[in-house]
Amino acid sequence: MTGAAGQLGHDVAAQMADSGHEPIAAGRPELDISQRDQVLSAVGAIRPDAVVNCAAYTAVDACQTEAARAYQVNAVAVRHLAEAARRFDAHFCHVSTDYVFSGDKAEPYHEWDRPDPRSVYGASKLAGEGEAGEAATVVRTSWLCGRHGSNMVGTVLRLAAEGGPLRFVSDQRGSPSFTADVAAVIERLCVDRRPGLYHAANQGDVSWYEFAREVMAAAGHDPDRVAPIATDDLQPPRPAPRPANSALENRALALAGMRCPGDFREPLMRLVAELLG
Ligand SMILES: NC(=O)c1ccc[n+]([C@@H]2O[C@H](COP(=O)([O-])OP(=O)(O)OC[C@H]3O[C@@H](n4cnc5c(N)ncnc54)[C@H](OP(=O)(O)O)[C@@H]3O)[C@@H](O)[C@H]2O)c1
Repeated sequence: MTGAAGQLGHDVAAQMADSGHEPIAAGRPELDISQRDQVLSAVGAIRPDAVVNCAAYTAVDACQTEAARAYQVNAVAVRHLAEAARRFDAHFCHVSTDYVFSGDKAEPYHEWDRPDPRSVYGASKLAGEGEAGEAATVVRTSWLCGRHGSNMVGTVLRLAAEGGPLRFVSDQRGSPSFTADVAAVIERLCVDRRPGLYHAANQGDVSWYEFAREVMAAAGHDPDRVAPIATDDLQPPRPAPRPANSALENRALALAGMRCPGDFREPLMRLVAELLG
């Protein structure tokens, strides 16, 4: 698997090992997925049952001005991984994002809603979904939070401890998703070698403001310390537009009769306890 040093990659490796698989976890120093020769020779040498791609260029704002790098890592590299998986008969599982959607829909997005990305990051990730190929599993997730990596939960806890201002936008909604839960879905889909597109997000959609309040409450702080602001009032303004609503419904998992990630509040309590412990 790739992107092993990343937030999701760390928990996918852990999930695979806990389930009795033998993950070979490659970070960027071991395998630069944008280098076709490296990808083909690594997959050819290892001959894995599955290739799981958790690597991506995830700096959403930087992607606006670094489109070439965004497409190199988020699209062209996926082409290389798909080619290697095909050549060496490995199942390919690729991870994508809620930012492939425009955000104009009022309800959560399901797998058959039309993507319409508004940022370079979202567009490059949508291109990557196309590169994964028909035999691949594509797992779209959103608003990731985990033990390893910077995310909203860690940020709120840090600001709360520092006593600093807690202002978060109330006009962007999504599905906070926890890496351990998403990793469990990825493992199941890989074992089953199920092709197709799956949303894997914890349920209970909230704005960033509402999510910050939930984090505060989970940590025993006063949620009223969090104030709502509008995206237009962010200083400095963010270069990349974000969807106003990118909550995800796990429709394909549910229709397949598979276990879906549950309400986000339960893993949130666990993560807060771990981070404060
Ligand atoms: N974070 C979220 O909220 C979120 C939401 C929806 C979907 N996703 C998707 O979920 C997946 C995992 O995200 P994440 O939050 O775990 O990301 P992350 O923490 O930023 O990890 C991504 C990893 O990919 C590595 N990488 C970048 N370019 C590479 C290359 N050319 N070759 C090999 N590795 C490379 C990075 O290494 P360096 O640090 O050295 O660059 C990093 O370790 C991505 O597909 C992302 O698009 C994330």
